[in-house]
Amino acid sequence: MSKAPVHEQWQNRWIFILAATGSAVGLGNIWKFPYITGENGGGAFVLVYLLCVAGLGIPIMLAEVLLGARGRLSPVNSMRSAVAESKVSKAWVSIGWMGVLAGLMILCFYSVIAGWALDYVALTAIGTFNGATAVDAKNIFENMLASPGTLIFWHTVFMLMTMGVLLAGVTKGLGMVARVLMPILFVVMLIMLGYAMVTGEFMQAVSFMFSFNFSALTSKSILIALGHAFFTLSLGMGAIMAYGAYMHKDGKLGQTVLTIGFLDTLIALVAGLCIFPIVFAQGASPSSGPGLLFQSLPIAFGAMPGGLIFGTLFFVLVVIAAWSSAVSLIEPGVAWLIETKKFTRKQACLVLGMAVWAVGVLCALSFNVLGDFTPIWLFGKNIFDFLDFATSQLMLPIGGLLMALFVGWKLARPALAHEVGNLQTPAMKMWLFALRYISPVMVSIVLVVGLYNALLS
Ligand code: PHE
Repeated sequence: MSKAPVHEQWQNRWIFILAATGSAVGLGNIWKFPYITGENGGGAFVLVYLLCVAGLGIPIMLAEVLLGARGRLSPVNSMRSAVAESKVSKAWVSIGWMGVLAGLMILCFYSVIAGWALDYVALTAIGTFNGATAVDAKNIFENMLASPGTLIFWHTVFMLMTMGVLLAGVTKGLGMVARVLMPILFVVMLIMLGYAMVTGEFMQAVSFMFSFNFSALTSKSILIALGHAFFTLSLGMGAIMAYGAYMHKDGKLGQTVLTIGFLDTLIALVAGLCIFPIVFAQGASPSSGPGLLFQSLPIAFGAMPGGLIFGTLFFVLVVIAAWSSAVSLIEPGVAWLIETKKFTRKQACLVLGMAVWAVGVLCALSFNVLGDFTPIWLFGKNIFDFLDFATSQLMLPIGGLLMALFVGWKLARPALAHEVGNLQTPAMKMWLFALRYISPVMVSIVLVVGLYNALLS
């Protein structure tokens, strides 16, 4: 089978690491992780999340990068070639299909939240939050949600930004994300951390995030922690597989994956340590849900010296993080259309971008006019909540589980050894054990219990 690359390639291993970290670090780290930690009681949830990242996330990420690096094509076609090479059932190719679909579904609601952040860049920069009280901040947030025009406008802007990067292609577009945006993000994050340490209730935040109180932990929170481990590492839907396909062959896959996992986790924890000190300093509740980031921080920015600049900078950071993730959500679909349907990059971006934009509009309307549209076939949830639930808590864990099973049990051993080297080292044995036994058992238990609860409640 010919392995000549159809797509461009990352210039070097570090660009791949930065691009994959760009995919991993996003709204999941800065918006979702803090608010679900707040809602699920803090420390014990953080511990379960960390265990899921280490025990499931990292091993599955290695499996996913490996499949991409092996196939050198979009997830659908990389899976096709892995299936052919391993002489197993074609049904395994559905991992690729489900991934393309999950990526598009995530982007529909992801872009709406990224739109909130864009709106907040503008609001903060013009001084809306100067001297704002908690009630003001709440009103501003709720007014934004109540306005279909505002939500749709910023969702549209964000989709255009995403399409812009995708149109420019892998090395110019995605490579730019890696080279320019990721380092800026790291620096701004550090400034924010210093700011929160000096002006907020830092020690209270540390004890909230790291004191393990297991009484707050329910089976539902365990499913959320597991789903989030997949979401935050961009696993189970082919994003990392698609990026892996653009990698040079130089081995060292294990180290590469550990670096990405480490950076992603670090940024989520740092985001929590930026947000919670300010939440506590305001006497606000950590469990205020999706609005946490948008309702508590602006009050602090409005009250603190330099808040205008830091506040604006902070939301710019959130947009950058979301931008570099959004690109990877749609790249598997774009790559597939280019390879198989002979689309140009431009056509592929246009078709998928418009489809995602349209469903994204419905997600934006879920916060206002379509708020009560919660049919039973959406599990009684509105469109926005359904897409979030179906992807992070079902499709990504299932996708990840199937990838683990495929690489653990089915992928031809010579292919495996060719990508990762000697399979007899202790690290590789542990990795295969995690793929073959730990992930299937853990993901299955959590899925069954979680679904049972979801259907009952
Ligand atoms: N990992 C991204 C985040 O944390 C979201 C994402 C999920 C991106 C799946 C790509 C694939 O925000």
